Amino acid sequence: MTPSRALVLGILALTTALSPCGGEDDIKAQHVGSYGIEVYHSYGPNGQYTFEFDGDEEFYVDLDKKETIWRIPEFGQLTSFDPQGGLQEIAIAKHNLDTMIKESNSTPATNEVPEVTVFPKSPVLLGQPNTLICSVDNIFPPVINITWLRNSKSVTEGVYETSFLSNSDHSFHKMAYLTFIPSDDDVYDCKVEHWGLEEPMLKHWEPEVPAPMSELTETVVCALGLSVGIVGIVVGTVFIIQGLRSGGPSRHPGPL
Ligand SMILES: *[C@@H]1O[C@H](CO)[C@@H](O)[C@H](O)[C@H]1NC(C)=O
Repeated sequence: MTPSRALVLGILALTTALSPCGGEDDIKAQHVGSYGIEVYHSYGPNGQYTFEFDGDEEFYVDLDKKETIWRIPEFGQLTSFDPQGGLQEIAIAKHNLDTMIKESNSTPATNEVPEVTVFPKSPVLLGQPNTLICSVDNIFPPVINITWLRNSKSVTEGVYETSFLSNSDHSFHKMAYLTFIPSDDDVYDCKVEHWGLEEPMLKHWEPEVPAPMSELTETVVCALGLSVGIVGIVVGTVFIIQGLRSGGPSRHPGPL
């Protein structure tokens, strides 16, 4: 068997092994529901109790108001969650944390440096309502301020953020959203304050409009084209003159 055939067969076998074969077990295995991401920290009086499904927030329990808040309100019409369950879990987490603080002689958590990325939800068209997304990853400990600036001024309208969402390495990520109308005049920053940063981090974003060629570029392109043309004419003329001079004798061979 030629090597290429063996490769094709190998890939076929691999594809078959990877493709889901159907059946309930397979389908279930492709989804992960996390029954309660509990966070309790000794900073401030609170923590967080969220329920994730496939890495998305399904609901959180507002620990002050003792209410279940659904990420998408319609979820709450399909099913329910007793916030008391969340409050009990948080109480247990607080108890466990207190024990661990004592056992570790109050060793504080190590602050990580968060990673911030800003991007629009949809392709940007001036005047078309859109949403800016500020994705903050590698958050630890889960204490952070994420705010939006428009032209360096704080924006509080049209903003929303998720709870802390879990990563497999026990750090967290969080998304902050800002609805906006792209305009030539507005620039944006996602401002992140975290103990892992010496000063607040500003992640800048502005619409990248495929602007018509700027005047400078136009001038440069025009000047380049013109100079190439002139050089061409000069070089061409020199060649013609040389050709005429050296070609002269050969075309008119001497009498010998
Ligand atoms: C978040 O903002 C509050 C209020 O301005 C401030 O007290 C707190 O220190 C900030 N948190 C962080 C992690 O910088």
